[in-house]
Amino acid sequence: MEKGKTYRIAVLPGDGTGPEVVREALKALDAVSAVSGFKTERVQYDLGGDRYIRTGELLPRSVLEELRGFDSMLLGAIGHPDVQPGILEKGLLLELRFNLEQYINLRPVILYPGVDTPLKDKKPEDINFVVVRENTEGIYAGAGGFLRRGTSQEIAIQDSVNTRFGAERCLRFAFEFCRRRGYRNKLTLCGKTNVLTYAFDMWERAFREIAAEYPDITTDYAHVDAICMWMVKNPEWFDVIVTDNMFGDIITDLGAMIQGGMGIAAGGNINPKGVSMFEPIGGSAPKYTGLNVINPLAAIAAIQMMLDHLGETEAAQRVENAIKKVVSRDVKNLSAGKMGHSTTEVGDLVAKYIAE
Ligand code: IPM
Ligand code: MN
Repeated sequence: MEKGKTYRIAVLPGDGTGPEVVREALKALDAVSAVSGFKTERVQYDLGGDRYIRTGELLPRSVLEELRGFDSMLLGAIGHPDVQPGILEKGLLLELRFNLEQYINLRPVILYPGVDTPLKDKKPEDINFVVVRENTEGIYAGAGGFLRRGTSQEIAIQDSVNTRFGAERCLRFAFEFCRRRGYRNKLTLCGKTNVLTYAFDMWERAFREIAAEYPDITTDYAHVDAICMWMVKNPEWFDVIVTDNMFGDIITDLGAMIQGGMGIAAGGNINPKGVSMFEPIGGSAPKYTGLNVINPLAAIAAIQMMLDHLGETEAAQRVENAIKKVVSRDVKNLSAGKMGHSTTEVGDLVAKYIAE
């Protein structure tokens, strides 16, 4: 990117520990902006559980329209103990993803040197892959409903919506991403063709057809249950995994655990042609709210992904190097309350290493 560029960033701290980790992420952003020659202009939005309880508003139309005008978005976390499950998740987070056409959820699973993995004998060179999750369709689309709710003859239907268009744009992104990543040039489709014989039949046909356009990429297929097994047994087999919304949700929590936990796992909701939103994937962790013990590294890793997406490759590299330094020198246990440092201190260390 050209020097001296100013990026407009929408900041959504959200619920629970969201605001605490966002504060440290912005500290890292300021530190890297000071040495990299770009500027940021930030607008904060108080979307989340507290606003919903106060006003009944989830995502006002006007806010949604404003968000389209930003270069990028940073989200802390969504989820409030006093709000019934599903309201904020569907009414806010999924609304943002769907309406802003952030049709890819990109989730790197990378084990940094010095970070503990629960996988015995696995090293950083064994755990280094990225999950490309479809982010706007599948069971998440919300198709279905109840019949005779609350009676003994109740029927609950929750359909999976899979369009050729949706699968294809996700698959194409995954092939391009795999090529650009230039690591093992291997793309694995994760599905369930032995049971979900309509949805994944279509996904697999599209996968095979598009693969013909990418002779440099080796393709592979695995059922989702088997992927869970291989991610634990042989994570070194993976480079890029592409999958639907629900399977992607599930396997990326498993991925987060093998890379050291929610303390370090970040993701990006990508609209390749519009505004993208970056977030730590760990949730709002309400029981740690206000204690200054939550790990901000995942939110800082979200900043790294944001910078990479904006084309600020060097700045992204700087943030990644600082994270690597912190986990190899200062923070051995990445879990909330066990870091041996406060949230603020970890953020300060990252900012210091970025400036070095
Ligand atoms: C995630 C989260 C969300 C999801 C929830 C909060 C709706 O688990 O980003 O993975 O299921 O996508
Ligand atoms: Mn999830």
